[in-house]
Amino acid sequence: MTGQDDAKRVAGERAIAEYLADGLRVGLGSGTTSRWFVRTLAKPVADGLTITGVVTSQTTAEVAAEAKVPLADLNDVLELDIAIDGADEIDAAGNMIKGGGGALLWEKIVATAAKKMVALVDDSKVVEKLGKFPLPVEVIPFGWRSTERHLRRALADFGYADPKIELRMRDGDIMRTDGGHYILDAHLKQIDDAPALAARLNTIPGVVEHGLFIGIAAAVVIGHPDGSSDIRHF
Ligand code: 5RP
Repeated sequence: MTGQDDAKRVAGERAIAEYLADGLRVGLGSGTTSRWFVRTLAKPVADGLTITGVVTSQTTAEVAAEAKVPLADLNDVLELDIAIDGADEIDAAGNMIKGGGGALLWEKIVATAAKKMVALVDDSKVVEKLGKFPLPVEVIPFGWRSTERHLRRALADFGYADPKIELRMRDGDIMRTDGGHYILDAHLKQIDDAPALAARLNTIPGVVEHGLFIGIAAAVVIGHPDGSSDIRHF
């Protein structure tokens, strides 16, 4: 296991200790950090912790089933007490880039269905400015090249003259999200006004969702490779 894996594990353990209690309805994130978190839930759940999970991806549903975490459909639960999920980058205001694992749409629906969203990261994800990590933009397959053209226009208004935008592939095929959509990864290097960019991206027809999570996280649990962790509130 690498130091960064240790940091992810520690963040998950700390989140369980700090935030979980009997009866809570919990959004379960996606990605490697969330996988540690969900796997670590197996023991407290076996020991009697009564939570109900709502997943953010099919993959997390499989991990939760292995850990024997009881699951519910968001349509039946409607409001969650807390959502706990990873991030690709998080800044000092708690704004994030998510979607490196392709689950951003369900993640944003689940995060905003929760009274409180807590991000779980290893310390390499904490940044001064968002944007080094390519920004995932989830688009409807129909007319996606036209949507990409609109995306380029919107980005040009934000000073990105000719950014690299990649259609995400997996195993030689276009990757489909759990919702059946495509992902365009926009390499922006630095995002100076993430809230404004997020608002603009929301106006493009064909864009289902994007990976800027603005004002959603209430706290972040940061794990460090030495086994320590800290929590920041926003
Ligand atoms: C998936 C996500 C993940 O939370 C994000 O990519 C972080 O993943 P990891 O914990 O593997 O670094 O947004 O869509």
